[in-house]
Amino acid sequence: MGKWGFFVTFEGIEGSGKTTLAKGLYDYLKSNSFKTILTREPGGTKEAEEIRRVLLKVGNSLDPVTELLLMLAARRENVYKKVLPALRETYIVISDRFDDSSFAYQGFGRGLELKFISRLNKVATGGLKPNLTFLVDIDPEAGFSRIKTKELDRFEREDLEFHTRVRRGYLILAKRAKKRIKVLDGSRSPEELLSEVIEVTLERLSQKGLNKFKLEG
Ligand code: TYD
Repeated sequence: MGKWGFFVTFEGIEGSGKTTLAKGLYDYLKSNSFKTILTREPGGTKEAEEIRRVLLKVGNSLDPVTELLLMLAARRENVYKKVLPALRETYIVISDRFDDSSFAYQGFGRGLELKFISRLNKVATGGLKPNLTFLVDIDPEAGFSRIKTKELDRFEREDLEFHTRVRRGYLILAKRAKKRIKVLDGSRSPEELLSEVIEVTLERLSQKGLNKFKLEG
């Protein structure tokens, strides 16, 4: 595929710092004349952000399959309305969470079968996979202590065991996709982490020819 962008995703449990890193990479690329957009899941479009509200609202009780289907409905909107159109224009698309979250949270966290998730997920993604994924790995207790000052959403209120299952799940996914998923030690300083993210991203981009992702290119 000649004229095609580059898709980078950030994953990790609550309090891992992945959102800051995604934003940091976006700012770096933008200020260096790369064509780039930043999105997030669940969310990224107006309609998907509305679905996000249902998913995160404290007090809502959702059957695990319903939860998965809503995540996937939001993903379908984000992929078809935002991510794919940008990739077609050779943009670098950065997403704060993508389909690894569904395997980690609805699979390892909630206990749904991975094969079942995978089948339905393909309907949402049309088979799109990230070129590169950063998994910011952190101990759930350390993650919790970072988020406890803000108002917690429906997932953040899950207990330590839930988040421990999610973390282990992520690490299993990373082992199965060594080339795509780069595991980062989330206990390192934000500056160190960001420079590693930038370095790895630039290296992967340059394998595809840096100029095609640049504004003047
Ligand atoms: P997140 O974007 O991490 O929110 P915050 O702004 O609070 O950091 O929160 C989204 C939540 O949705 C997060 O707890 C993980 C969950 N999630 C899933 O369970 N499955 C999914 O497929 C996705 C994309 C997110």
